[in-house]
Amino acid sequence: MTHEPPPTATDLTSPQPADWNADHYRSRHAFVFESSADLAGSWLQPRAGEHILDLGCGTGELTASIAASGAAVVGVDASAEMVAGARTAHRDVTFEVLNAHALPYHAEFDAVFSNAALHWMKPLDPVFAQVADALKPGGRLVLEMGGAGNVQTVIDAVDHATRTLGLPDVPHPWTFPSTAQLATLLEAANLRVERTHWFERPTVLQGEDGFRAWLEGFGAAWLAPLGAEQRAAVLTEAEAYARPRLWNGQEWVADYRRLRAVAVKP
Ligand code: BEZ
Repeated sequence: MTHEPPPTATDLTSPQPADWNADHYRSRHAFVFESSADLAGSWLQPRAGEHILDLGCGTGELTASIAASGAAVVGVDASAEMVAGARTAHRDVTFEVLNAHALPYHAEFDAVFSNAALHWMKPLDPVFAQVADALKPGGRLVLEMGGAGNVQTVIDAVDHATRTLGLPDVPHPWTFPSTAQLATLLEAANLRVERTHWFERPTVLQGEDGFRAWLEGFGAAWLAPLGAEQRAAVLTEAEAYARPRLWNGQEWVADYRRLRAVAVKP
């Protein structure tokens, strides 16, 4: 994940954040794991002796918190930079560089956990098929990702900027499913959906430059088709569009919308 950029496990078949820097990610994007601590706790409910896969582990903070329960955890991420940062920070936990579209696991895990990573892994149907294959019968998938409407104002800001500047549209690289779309994807992978929860989580982007820093980091792959000068112009125009919508006079607050689910392999 995460970069000045980004987040977590990305998939090698998806556009990659250009500059995943583990230290920067941990210091500037700590909200990614801090705000999902309960996902790894009361949602996952890891138990000692369980074998758990953390898919898109980023810098490994939640992986380590799951390991503290006594479960045997493997954290995987497509970013070698993130995995290197995770290994340095959490020496007792196992981390591997792996593509979520090519997981080598078959009926090995009691649970697969994923936080803030799946929206980078388009298309999701083969990923959920791999997850189902990795789970033991009765095993569970516990996930949080961007849900429908996630960071919509940021997306609108970039769309507005490219249109205003007469530039080609640049489609964002993420997938933010609705509850119904996610349930359909999970059921198609033969996972039984037990629980879903879509909710708004306004998220502070630290600093006066928080909007720009977020876009430069997480949006690096998104804006990569533009030249350097076009990118700079888009950042300026998008920030001007976003300011009356996301700047509250003291800080930037992005319109994060989350989607959580628990699904079980029958
Ligand atoms: C998210 O966690 O919702 C997210 C993070 C970076 C880019 C897009 C979405």
